[in-house]
Amino acid sequence: MDAKQLKQQAAQAALEFIEPNTIVGVGTGSTVNYFIDALATMKDDIAGAVSSSEASTQRLQEHGIEVIELNHTADIPVYVDGADEITAHLQMIKGGGGALTREKVIAAVAKRFVCIADESKLVDVLGRFPLPVEVLPMARSYVAREIVKLGGDPVWREGFVTDNGNLILDIHNLTILEPMKLEQQLNNIVGVVTNGLFAQRGADIALIASASGVDQRHA
Ligand code: A5P
Repeated sequence: MDAKQLKQQAAQAALEFIEPNTIVGVGTGSTVNYFIDALATMKDDIAGAVSSSEASTQRLQEHGIEVIELNHTADIPVYVDGADEITAHLQMIKGGGGALTREKVIAAVAKRFVCIADESKLVDVLGRFPLPVEVLPMARSYVAREIVKLGGDPVWREGFVTDNGNLILDIHNLTILEPMKLEQQLNNIVGVVTNGLFAQRGADIALIASASGVDQRHA
């Protein structure tokens, strides 16, 4: 079974967590794209979606799913999103697609975070995947210098602008033994909008697809 099929399986499995007549929180990425396709099969049973990126919004709308502004609702029972890395404690690195800030905001509002991933995303320790940090454009160099002081190796994702008009620094060469602490340290750097560590608010449920099926894990 290839990665695409595994992502599809995890995405399909997330449908059982969707509550009828509610607004669904929708993440971003290739796994979530399969989730959006699957969600379209029950679009008449939901009250619409809140989207974490322009790309997901477009795909949702192409399927005829209404996209609702986050400011218009406080009630999102379930947020479904992928991850770049996820641990057994369901802490994650996200933001490979650059949508980390809106993802983190919707995850903060949602009651439950359901992470969908193929088994290649499972890790013992976070950090092999470069950790994305969204920064204000004028703060890029300053934030990069501060990240070096924390022991990271920031690389500017040149040519990429987030949906919020900001830049991304990807931090290489980290072994993240204390994810909550690093998440807080990065947030404390002036000019950082968000970082891609989802440790304080990790996933509640992970649906991890492998050749033997979809394994459901709880935090
Ligand atoms: C988007 O910004 C990310 O957080 C994605 O959720 C993450 O990169 C996983 O993407 P894939 O499903 O494409 O691996």
